[in-house]
Amino acid sequence: MAEDKNNTHYFLDLSADEDERLKLGQLVILDHMEKAVWAPLDLSVPGLRILDSATASGVWLQDLKASLPASSNHTYIGTDITPIYFVKTASPDLTLQVQSMKQPWPTEWQGTFDLRGEGRSEAKGTIANMMHLLKPGGWMQLVESDHSVVQGPALQSMFELLCDKFKVMDTGPDYAPQLEDWFKELGMVNIGCRIFDVPLGANNPNEEMKAKSTRCFFLATNGMAQAAQSVPTSFAPHDLGQLASRVEEELATQGGCTGCTAFGASGRSRYNWSSAG
Ligand SMILES: C[S@@+](CC[C@H](N)C(=O)[O-])C[C@H]1O[C@@H](n2cnc3c(N)ncnc32)[C@H](O)[C@@H]1O
Repeated sequence: MAEDKNNTHYFLDLSADEDERLKLGQLVILDHMEKAVWAPLDLSVPGLRILDSATASGVWLQDLKASLPASSNHTYIGTDITPIYFVKTASPDLTLQVQSMKQPWPTEWQGTFDLRGEGRSEAKGTIANMMHLLKPGGWMQLVESDHSVVQGPALQSMFELLCDKFKVMDTGPDYAPQLEDWFKELGMVNIGCRIFDVPLGANNPNEEMKAKSTRCFFLATNGMAQAAQSVPTSFAPHDLGQLASRVEEELATQGGCTGCTAFGASGRSRYNWSSAG
């Protein structure tokens, strides 16, 4: 599915495995980050508008909502290039709709969000477009994987495969270390960055997360290896076939690496969109 460079859908199609992987990924990262929102937005103020682009099933928004009192009365909007992962039982305060981050956003959304959170793999131009969705003083938070932080040969191979896929999708594999500079260049103020080295497999001190992070990376590698059969990669078919088991074994036994480094950054929009015209 990657031949369209991710313009209409994602390279990992809907399957029980992908659904499980998305849930596990969110669980493992949130467990380590401890909270979903690091941008210093006062979430106790009622009636906030919160956007998650590239939301997949909307799991980040649902977790955030579940962590806050019911009286918060926030509006949660999740967008994704494809509806295939959307939960069918969304509540009235959670809207999920198809919208590519690379396409113009609805004009009526400009300047209306208090927080734009989560996401993944967003280039500078995509972030710039999304800044216009923030209210004056609204917050942008991104959590990107830093693929340069890898230990262990199997995980190294997995990230090489990911880079091959990203190339087809016109996505860079190195956005995380650039986020802070991009936020500055885009004129954001009150910028804050935190680096979370998420421990994977045997490196994770929590027994449950040990198993869940290993399973998550097994599923991710397996899905990528299967999707790689239809696009050119630098891997021989035999190596592709073995990669997921190698990753699973490496994580379960050695723990491998600090692995998926989630990089959080937040910046405060200094623009007053109502006066900017
Ligand atoms: C790795 S998942 C991330 C999902 C979720 N944010 C998370 O962290 O678990 C990537 C998601 O990005 C979506 N996506 C990819 N390209 C997109 C685009 N141009 N616009 C909106 N969503 C996109 C995919 O459909 C997929 O659901």
